[in-house]
Formats: sequence, C-alpha cells, structure tokens
Amino acid sequence: MYALMAVLMLVAGIGHLAIWTRLHCSIHSLPFPQRLIDIVEYTTYLMSVLIPVLFFVWWIQQPLNWRTSESGPIHYSTLYYVWYYYTSACVVAFIAASLLWLLYQRDAQIAADYFQERQLGSFNFDPMAPELLTSTSTRLASMIPGNEILQLIVDRKELYLPRLPGELDGFTITHISDLHLKGHMAEEFYRKVIAQANDLGSEMIVIAGDIFDRDKCFPWARTLAKLSAECGVYFVIGNHELRLNDPAMARKVLVEEGLIDLGGTQMTLTIRGYPVVLAGNELPWFPPAADMSTLNASQFDQPPFKILVAHTPDQIGWARGNDFDLMLAGHNHGGQIRLPVIGPLVSPSIYGTRYAGGMYYQPPTLLHVSRGVSGTNPLRWNCKPEITQLVLRTRS
Ligand SMILES: [Fe+2]
Repeated sequence: MYALMAVLMLVAGIGHLAIWTRLHCSIHSLPFPQRLIDIVEYTTYLMSVLIPVLFFVWWIQQPLNWRTSESGPIHYSTLYYVWYYYTSACVVAFIAASLLWLLYQRDAQIAADYFQERQLGSFNFDPMAPELLTSTSTRLASMIPGNEILQLIVDRKELYLPRLPGELDGFTITHISDLHLKGHMAEEFYRKVIAQANDLGSEMIVIAGDIFDRDKCFPWARTLAKLSAECGVYFVIGNHELRLNDPAMARKVLVEEGLIDLGGTQMTLTIRGYPVVLAGNELPWFPPAADMSTLNASQFDQPPFKILVAHTPDQIGWARGNDFDLMLAGHNHGGQIRLPVIGPLVSPSIYGTRYAGGMYYQPPTLLHVSRGVSGTNPLRWNCKPEITQLVLRTRS
C-alpha cells in the first residue's frame, strides 16, 4: 500500500512539473510584453516548488486514521478536495507528457530517413574563458562542472529533400542561430564563431534570429560583417530583438554591414540556373510574415525550390501551408539542458520540447532547428552550441 502510494506521489510530482513547465514554455512562445513574461516565468518557478511543499505540510498534519470513520459518513475538508483534484490533474498530465514523449521519438524516427550528420569539429574554448567571458555571472556559471557554453560543435548535415532539383544537389547553407550579442560573452568569442562559419565555405549563410540582446552591442555588427558566402548572408530577427530599445536599429546596422534582411519578405534567387524562393517569417514577434500570395507559379519555367528562414519552429504550420521544402529555425536552443533518455525539459515553444533542436519532417517541409550559439541563461548541459553546414541532396 505504501509502495503504491509512493509511486502515485512520484507520478503526480512529475505531472505537476510537466504542467508548470508547459506553462513556462508556452509563455515564451507568445508575443507578450517582457514584464508579463517575467512575472509568469517567476510564478512558474515559485509554484513548482511551493505546491509540493504546501501539500507535504498539509499531508503530515492529517490524522493517521483520516480515511476511516467508525460512525456515520466521512466529512472531508475542502482542502482535501482541492488536493484530490489537483493530484488527479497531475496524474493526467503525467500520462499526457509520456504520450507526447513517445510522439517525439516517432518524429525522430521519421526524420532519420531524411538526413545524415557528421561532426566536422569540436572547439573547446574553456581555457580561454577569462578572455571570452566578460560578466561575472557567466564566468561563475562556466565553472559549473559539465557546463558546455564554451564548447562549439561544427557539424555537417546532408539533407535528402524529396523535391530538390538535380541542379541544386550539393548546394550548401551554413545555418547559424541565437548569437545573443549581449555583452556577457566577449566580441572575441563571436569572432571565433564567425571564423569557423566562414571556414565551412558554404554558398549561402543564414542567421535565424536572436542576434542582438542589448543595444550596446550594435557596433558588433562589424564582426558579423565578416561572414561571407557566394549567394549572400541572410538574417531574420527574433523575440530577443523585441527587448531592445530600438529593434529597427538591429536591422539597420546589419544591413549597413552587408547582410540581407529577410524579415517579412520573400525573394527569388537564381542559383545554379534554378529558381529558389527565399522567405522570412518573424512571427509572432515581428509581423507580418512574407506575403507568399504574390508568388505566381506561372512566372517560373520550373517549380521553384522554397526555403523559409524563421526564428521559431512554431511556424512549421505556416511553412507547410505555403508549401516550403526547407525551413531553418532556432529559438529553442536545443532545450539547453538535456537529460539522458528523457531529452530536453524546457523549450520556449507552444509545442513544448517537440521542436527543441535537430531535424523534423512534416511533409512537404524538412525543418532544421539549430541549437544556437549562445543564450541569455549561461548554462548548457548535454546540449553544446552549434553551427551547421547543411548540404542539400536529392532524395531518390
Ligand atoms: Fe534565443
């Protein structure tokens, strides 16, 4: 009986965390004022701890024979019913979270048929921490055993795209995301990241948002100006640019340095003689998304290959609805902390951790979500920063 009770409490405890974690994820995926997001975030932290403590305090105050009555009907207190229904909701949340976890495993199995990954390099900047980390809190965080904020992975993913024309077979795109220029990592850190990105020699480079976190870092656009690719360097901005005093200035300084703004727009490029539509979607933070209704199929001799750059993978439905072949996103940072078997616990997405990082195939769109380069929380575990070279391949 006690063992069953212990299992029930464990299940309810995990379900309780699932409820508040999901609320935490959802609030970060919506375009609410930062103050409201902060209030909800700290409330979720507080409730995650406070509710189990209150339950425990109430529980130990109950008489040992509270379940039995020697005479007459049992009269439970109102608080008893509150705990009863909340615990039931937690058990349901546990079951739902378990089913979603199974769904995510299925997602990974499906996507595995559409790409192959090879690590090209692993750069451990830990010995350079004093030079690369400029804030005390980040320096202290970097000393936590296992923290991977200074360990950059450079990898290559070959993507097998069902509708890729032969002309574009082997086309390369370097996907960078979530640089979070804030001032807690020195500009030198970003110089090293940009150098690694350029060494890949891709034909196109895209940055999928969350570039600037502080207005004071606008001059660092000069470092991003070093990015170089034959077909151009493109960017969208993300939710962290919304926190700037002057988000428009973020675009301006990047454009002045030669980067191409894809925010809310679409353009048709001719690459290797083939039409490629490249579009940007910064929803829900910077509407509107690119207007795809102006794209007229009759203007093309051949169906164009369509690539979307969005900050959040939550826009996958929009990408599918507009018939995109490839979507590149960031925002979720891989979850930043990934537990063995379970995977990430938190991801700022309306879909929870479903699109935390990696490859996903939602026909007709193949989605790549970068784990990003940095973040506002200087803690990563089992989730190293990354830049990725994507090699487009025809799927036979
Ligand atoms: Fe981010």
